[in-house]
Amino acid sequence: MEKIVALCKRRGFIFQSSEIYGGLNGAWDYGPLGVELKRNLKDYWWKCMTQLRDDIVGFDGSILMNRAVWKASGHEDTFSDPMVECPITKKRFRADQIEPLTGKVKTFEGYKISGSEENPIEVSLGKFPVFVQSEKQAIKTADAYFRTRVNDGTPITLQERESQSVENSTAFNPENGALLSEPRIFNLMLKTYIGPVQDDSAITYLRPETAQAMFVQFKNVLDVSQKKLPFGIAQIGKAFRNEINPRNFTFRSREFEQMEVEFFVKPGTGPEWLEKWREERLAWYEAVGIPRAKIHVLTVPEKDRAFYSQGTYDLEYEFPFGIQELEGIAHRGNYDLKQHQEHSGKPLEYFDEEAKAKYLPEVVEPSAGVDRTVLAILCEAYAEETIKDEESGKEETRVVLRFAPRIAPIKAAIFPLLKNKPELVAIARDIYKTLQPLLKVAYADTAAIGRRYRRMDEVGTPFGITIDFETLEGAKEASVSATGTPISAGQKDTVTLRHRDSMKQERIAISDLPAYLLTKVT
Ligand code: GAP
Repeated sequence: MEKIVALCKRRGFIFQSSEIYGGLNGAWDYGPLGVELKRNLKDYWWKCMTQLRDDIVGFDGSILMNRAVWKASGHEDTFSDPMVECPITKKRFRADQIEPLTGKVKTFEGYKISGSEENPIEVSLGKFPVFVQSEKQAIKTADAYFRTRVNDGTPITLQERESQSVENSTAFNPENGALLSEPRIFNLMLKTYIGPVQDDSAITYLRPETAQAMFVQFKNVLDVSQKKLPFGIAQIGKAFRNEINPRNFTFRSREFEQMEVEFFVKPGTGPEWLEKWREERLAWYEAVGIPRAKIHVLTVPEKDRAFYSQGTYDLEYEFPFGIQELEGIAHRGNYDLKQHQEHSGKPLEYFDEEAKAKYLPEVVEPSAGVDRTVLAILCEAYAEETIKDEESGKEETRVVLRFAPRIAPIKAAIFPLLKNKPELVAIARDIYKTLQPLLKVAYADTAAIGRRYRRMDEVGTPFGITIDFETLEGAKEASVSATGTPISAGQKDTVTLRHRDSMKQERIAISDLPAYLLTKVT
């Protein structure tokens, strides 16, 4: 993971937010290549949902909404995590994510020494249990705890009291063994105020999911799009959560993007649509370079599901830091529409012309994280290989990002073999200018050609196009071009096409380049 994080910074995929001021935990900036990768991913999702399907329409809701939305949806009361705190380090943990510990717990009693030097008096500071990772660590933790109680350099002493065994206990800090605080409920929504007066009437929240705007506007969208059930609304946008422990690079952030579909279906058909969406989404991940074998489908047990859910699948990816959720696909019943209908007093029912009946549809919601998918794609694409340098013959390590061409930030790089040969440069510039309006291309003329290939491999550019002497003088030998058409010996105006993954090189006619590349990257 460290190598991927370092590459992301070195080559301009992802930077820490506010880095020059020491950063901001849980916020990330996408650099020049990261933004292309992310945009390609979102564009492909958008195309699959709204262009290639007849039953989904697009939508872009506002981040700020009336506070009543969050009351009705249940977020204001229930969008929270139980949180515990270490009394020594003040670090907070989600109570349901503490690593369970089995072993010995020792209780220490701490004393502070007061009174005079001639007549010292020991005053008890109370007792404190510590999970024993080692005797030394337990004493260090107990000592640190009682020091927080006196807070001024007063000397303290420790006495060991009881000792007991615990099994799978989540009451202790796995980092230092200290007993954690009782869980407290912590709302994850980021609160803000609308307008100049910061009182209760001005409160609202930065949306914690994009979904709610689609429920609230269900009727408007339905009326204007004249769709019949089943039909869906798709949206991509920012969401904000005041996560207790942002971690694992961009995986758990406080600001992130979601790609969500609210798919409205006839009552009773939710379960079958849940199955359909699971398959649809697995195929989509495969199309962006995450193989089916690397995705685990978790059937979320009832006790772990959101209270509104009648069935949820989590699609999880094998990240280097563990198997973790990429996307949740939930059958939300008619919970959301019902809540908004009740709280707003506005009818949100669908009129079924065939059945001549009004009802609230059920909803199946595939909800994916943009940033998590980008991270999974980076992890999946990253490879290191030992290869022989074509010029020096020496062995070297090649770092390559094997992105699916459709989401690669740069699709092709154009290289004149030598930058001081005007005839080569003129053709290279010409090809670059021809391709530039069609797809994202780069032009590189410095360093030896092998080095230039390597730099493009490292950012995942699938195709290298080299304008060489055979372009000017004619192909040395006959071959079959990348498009399958023959190239004859002596044929001019061909270039070397190098493939990133196989490093195979073949010739292709310059005139065939646009069509060839476009079919490969869409
Ligand atoms: N509307 C349903 C919903 O928001 P969720 O499981 O809470 O469901 C959906 O979120 C997806 O959003 C997750 O599967 C994940 O990909 C992404 N996501 C959620 N919290 C995130 C966070 N703190 N950082 C990055 N992505 C997050």
